Amino acid sequence: MDLLNTPAALRIQCRQWRKQGHSIALVPTMGFLHAGHMSLIDEARKRADKLVVSVFVNPTQFGPNEDLDRYPRDLPRDLKLAEEHGADAVFAPEPGAMYEPDHATWVEVPELAKGLCGASRPIHFRGVCTVVLKLLNLVQPDVAVFGQKDWQQLAILKRMARDLNLDAELVGMPIFREADGLAMSSRNVYLTGDERARVPAIRQGLLLMQQRVKDGETDAEQLGLMFRRHIADTLPDARIDYAAFVHPESMAPVARVDKATLLAVAVFIGKVRLIDNILLEG
Ligand code: PAJ
Repeated sequence: MDLLNTPAALRIQCRQWRKQGHSIALVPTMGFLHAGHMSLIDEARKRADKLVVSVFVNPTQFGPNEDLDRYPRDLPRDLKLAEEHGADAVFAPEPGAMYEPDHATWVEVPELAKGLCGASRPIHFRGVCTVVLKLLNLVQPDVAVFGQKDWQQLAILKRMARDLNLDAELVGMPIFREADGLAMSSRNVYLTGDERARVPAIRQGLLLMQQRVKDGETDAEQLGLMFRRHIADTLPDARIDYAAFVHPESMAPVARVDKATLLAVAVFIGKVRLIDNILLEG
């Protein structure tokens, strides 16, 4: 497996593979790999001859008061995991290698980015779109694999790919969870032991909403109140950033859960912000 540190090295390697007739899959990550990431890597491994995993804590998607500096990092461990799971190359650039000091070009999908995570993280998706487009341009993959854990991110990237006629197929993989239902996330390491024991209540709240919809409740406002009550009862110290019922592709709010609807939530436990979602079949 190759470790590539510069965009030029990545471009040259991928160009060579394509010349040799190989297909290429890309899995973009910010590293500190966990089983959720590995499920994407395993899927990508099956879909192409060559597999590139990027490990880059992208500074432009972090707001000024967010966790860029303390975001967990462990490149040696990431390299070992990527190699064990069949990656042909890991791209791990320094921030200076990805952004010129006078970087001035941004990709935005504002219509899909204004709600949910975008509401409390105004520059987040602009940073995500820009870095993912840069990675897609460097690698020119046949397929790029993302997680449905960040459903809004995937919806935005798919719209960007469609609107800008990108060649790569963007594939979404189901949320990979701990045995007790907590969605895996690099940020879970921020939780204290006590918090960690209690946060599966978020997933339980999503399942409760699924049950209420099956029982016939379709009023998104009522369902939202029920979810809030469940969190107040089970995680009294939590603060709900949002609990939103939206169209799964347009991210537009819906009032009635009478067709496929995404329930996406973000919950603060102390300083840690956890996201999760469930697709409700109305
Ligand atoms: P990161 O949070 O490292 O996630 C990398 C990929 O792994 C994303 O597509 C994310 O949705 C997926 N993922 C994370 N946890 C998952 C889980 N429990 N189950 C399934 N998939 C999961 O998302 C980013 O990095 C960045 O925004 C990035 C796209 C790399 C751009 O910087």
